[in-house]
Amino acid sequence: MKPTILFFDSGVGGLSVYREVRQLLPDYHYLYCFDNAFFPYSERAEAEIIERVLMICQQLDQRYPLDLIVIACNTASTVVLPALRQAFRCPIVGTVPAIKPAAIISKTKHIGLLATKGTINRSYVAELICQYAKDCKVEKIGSTQLVQLAEQKLHGHSVDLIALRKELLIWLEQTDLDTVVLGCTHFPLLKEEIQICLPQVKYFVDSGQAIAKRIQSLLEDYQENKSEEMQALLFNQAFCTHDFSTLFQFERRLKQWGFATLTLL
Ligand code: DGL
Repeated sequence: MKPTILFFDSGVGGLSVYREVRQLLPDYHYLYCFDNAFFPYSERAEAEIIERVLMICQQLDQRYPLDLIVIACNTASTVVLPALRQAFRCPIVGTVPAIKPAAIISKTKHIGLLATKGTINRSYVAELICQYAKDCKVEKIGSTQLVQLAEQKLHGHSVDLIALRKELLIWLEQTDLDTVVLGCTHFPLLKEEIQICLPQVKYFVDSGQAIAKRIQSLLEDYQENKSEEMQALLFNQAFCTHDFSTLFQFERRLKQWGFATLTLL
């Protein structure tokens, strides 16, 4: 059984979700799209993001009929899910900041939301906080710089801890901040470095594992409609929308993540 699942993000962030899903469901057929031509999404208008995500998902669906789409990007998910659900028949799984589990796990009821500038200002997130974290003090940091640092790390560069610390500066003194929501899919990729800067934080929460379980249950009754020959031909592939200056090195790196090829769309 090999359902085709597309992971979509502006950059490497979605890999943090993909790794959880692949760990639980190793034999599925995975596609990954880096919309790097439009990176970073957090600096883009909402309408532009919706148009873009729809167009690229439709383009990929024509080539590789999709059984499920994961918008592995909080910035996009908080605006694009209704339009995608209208356009596609397959299940669409979004990624939204894990406010609810964070509010439950925090002992001090003082939590931080670390996300992009776009995400922290979305009404969707305000509603999540209002619904699930009423009893908590919620601090927010919106950062594009952290997204860039995660990109650099995954492209093989070392992480600039001074720059990272600078982004987190206002939380350094908040000694009872015990839980941080990694509300951008890029940030679990920097978890160790963030922990070094914020030693008081006991719990880092992201949505990766919950998404993996959700996909497992959504595809429980999946009926294969591909022939065995066709299934044998399906290999995991990544796509980008703009040439990476280091395309070949990056393609090599992606092999370690289980993607055989990286192709420009
Ligand atoms: N990975 C995206 C997210 O989860 C953000 C990256 C961007 O701003 O493009 O929000």
